[in-house]
Parts: sequence; C-alpha cells; structure tokens
Amino acid sequence: MAKLWGGRFSKNTNAMVDAFNASIEFDKRLYHEDIRGSIAHANMLGRTGIISQEDNKQIVAGLNKILSDIEAGEFDFSVELEDIHMNVEARLTAAIGSAGARLHTARSRNDQVALDMHMYMKREVTEIMELLIEFENALLTLAKKHNKTLMPGYTHLQRAQPITLAHHLLAYFNMLQRDFRRLQGVWAGADLMPLGAGAIAGTTLPIDRFQVAKELNFGAVYGNSMDAVSDRDYVLEFLSFASITMMHLSRFSEEICLWSSTEFGFIELDDAFATGSSMMPQKKNPDISELVRGKTGRVYGHLMAMLTTLKGLPLTYNKDLQEDKEGFFDAIDTVKFSLLVYKDMILTMKVNKDKMAAAVHNDFSNATDLADYLVRKGLPFRQAHAVVGKAVAYAIAEGKLLTEITLEEYKQMSPLFEEDLLVALQPEHCVAARTSYGGPAFALNAKQVEMGKEIVREQKKVYNQLKKKI
Ligand code: ARG
Repeated sequence: MAKLWGGRFSKNTNAMVDAFNASIEFDKRLYHEDIRGSIAHANMLGRTGIISQEDNKQIVAGLNKILSDIEAGEFDFSVELEDIHMNVEARLTAAIGSAGARLHTARSRNDQVALDMHMYMKREVTEIMELLIEFENALLTLAKKHNKTLMPGYTHLQRAQPITLAHHLLAYFNMLQRDFRRLQGVWAGADLMPLGAGAIAGTTLPIDRFQVAKELNFGAVYGNSMDAVSDRDYVLEFLSFASITMMHLSRFSEEICLWSSTEFGFIELDDAFATGSSMMPQKKNPDISELVRGKTGRVYGHLMAMLTTLKGLPLTYNKDLQEDKEGFFDAIDTVKFSLLVYKDMILTMKVNKDKMAAAVHNDFSNATDLADYLVRKGLPFRQAHAVVGKAVAYAIAEGKLLTEITLEEYKQMSPLFEEDLLVALQPEHCVAARTSYGGPAFALNAKQVEMGKEIVREQKKVYNQLKKKI
C-alpha cells in the first residue's frame, strides 16, 4: 500500500519495519478523538479560507461516515498505514478524493497525536472522577453503618489502640479525596490545546488555533509550538495519579487479605467476590484484593517506563513518544476496573463484628488510656507510661488482662489508681473519649461521614462542570 509520506522513497517498506513501526493496534482506541479533532481542524481551515467551504463540508461528511463505519465495525485497520491518523486520512481521501487530501494542511501527526491524547485524557479523567466518587460513597455508607464497630488499630501490625471500623474506612476516604484533587490537576495539565504547532514550528498558513480550542472545549492553547509537540507531562501526571490511587487500593487490599484470613477472621468476602482452589476444596481466596495489589506494581512500571522514555529525549518529537500509549491505556483500564470491582466487593463483604470486638477486648490496646488516666490524676506522662508498662508486664505474667487486675494490685503500682479506672479501660470508653480533632470518637466519625457527603457533593459539581468541557 502506498504510504502517505512515500514521495521521496523508491522502495516499499520492509514488512518487519511496518510491523515494528505501527501503533494502530493500540492507538485505534483514539479514533473518536482523532475524527473529532480532524473535524474541528477542517472547520477552522474552512473558516479561515485556507480550504473552500465545499471541501470543508465534504471532509466533515466523510469523517462522520468513517466514524459510524468504525463504530459499526466496518473499518479494516491497516498496519501498513501505521497509525489511527493515517488510517482515517487514507480512507477519507479514498472516499472523497482531493478534498480529503487537503485535510492535513497546516498539520502534522506530531500535533495531531498530541491533540488526540489530550482529548482522550480529558474524557477518561471525568470517567475516573465518577468512579472515585462512587467508591467514596461506598466508604461513607460503610462508615456510617460501622460507627460503633470496635476493632483494634494497628501500628507495626501489632495491636495499638482501640478504634472503629468507621474510623479505619474514613482514613481511606481521606486518601481518595486527595486522589480526586490530584485528578483535578491531571485535568488541568490535559486541558491545553496543542494543534497548530505543526511538526515543530507552527505554519506559514493563516490558521487560528483558538478557534480549534474553542470548538473542542479546551481552556487554553500551548504557547510554544516545540513544547506542544514534545510535552508528555500530562501523561506523567496521570500515571502519578494512577500510581498513588493504586497504592491506596493496594494498602486496603493487604488489609482485606489479612482480615479475611482465619487468623484474623474480621471479614468474610461475599461468594460472588471470592474465588476457590482447583485442588483444595475448603479454600475461599481474596483474589480481587491480591490482583489489585499485584496490578499496582504494573501501574508503577508504566510511570517508571514513561519517565525513563522521556529523560533522554531531545526536543521535539521523537518516535520514542509513541511509547506513551500502551502504559497509559493500561493504567486507565486498571484504575477504572479496580475502583469498580472494589466498590461492590466492600459493599457486599460480611463484617464479623464479634471477632473484631473480641480482638479489642482481649488485649492490651487500652494501655495508653490507662496512662492517660494517670496523667489526668496529675502524674507526668513519662512516669505514667512506666507505671502502666509495669502493669502490663505484671498482667502478662499473671495471664490476665488489664481489666482483670484488682484495684488493690493497681494501688500497689500507684496510689493514684481509684475505682473509676475500670471505666477508663473499657474499649468503648477508650474510643468515645478520643475526641481530639481527627480522632475516632463515635460522635466525631458520625460528623465526618456527614462532612464527607458534603465533600462528595462538591466533587460531583466539579465532575458535572468538567464533563461539559470534554
Ligand atoms: N503514531 C505516532 C505516535 O503515536 C504518531 C505521530 C507520528 N509522527 C511522526 N512524525 N512519525 O507518536
């Protein structure tokens, strides 16, 4: 097949070179943006008089026909035509002749592919925003339901202090809020219009880049043509966002795996969200969490790959930049699927409240509360810490819990201990009394859930606004 750039060549391209060079297998995903971008470009060429109104009309009709052909599965993508841009353009020219051959006036694939990627990114960002919002809502629903569900909080994976499942889940809600904020930044990086930069240095023809930006709902236009065709910061920003969001889901995954083990027994995944073993009939495995944890590494890999691809590239376009796509697309799919499946997985899991409560009642995670008790009676914290440390050692030696040591025994450790110490040791009290701002007190978390709903409502407004600008 004749190449659109074949003029100076006297031989056909080697078949291996065609196969190695082509990006069509993955960049066909950009077909919608490519066609929409070309329509806006043709309209601008028509309005500025660079092409005739008639050619403009024919191009737009031809492109719309190609769009419906692709969507109907009636388009054979060709490897010899390399990429989505040349596949569409060749088909257009075959269909409408010389008008089609005018479409690429004042344009290069370098600014064209950049335009497609920016548009695609903006669409995906809004879809991911919606998924984040839905996942946040799921966390808020569960946090409300488990406002009183006691469980141990861990540091060093050792029981530390009593908390509630609500408090634990709201920690993830806070992380996701930051993910949403980062995603807004990703949008800002993608909302820049590169078309009109040409191959590197703009054009001598009287184009109007701002018309194109307006038609395609871009907030701004790249101010430097060389930057416009070589910038991939927006891809890096997306991959950074994706890596951090996946990291959050991966930490949660680790906990889901631990909590669903027999040793913890805190939760049981719904049968529809777990898998079995081909050999061991008793197994119920948390594969979703394991896969999300596993796929996180893959997304980090895409970020590293892109950073590495860019680090040695001279300005401006180099074919290395074609490597921006597969990792980017894969990261999009991975983040979207992970958020989607995770939401339903956590909403359907069974929480074993008794097991969680037993874990808090049968350990020493109330020790800090006992030290605070002595502080309230006037003892300096360091001394209180030492007294309670001795009490813990004594209890362990006696095979008892802090609640099972008698007041007489306590009094020998410190005369400040009185009857009311038993109240201070109750896990419910420990949680209820942690009213410092951001703490796990039941009342505070109930308020956090309400505030969370308000935050989500605001995010939804942002989402609705941005959706109008894709
Ligand atoms: N398929 C190419 C890419 O994704 C399109 C741009 C090619 N430009 C060029 N001058 N070869 O980067």
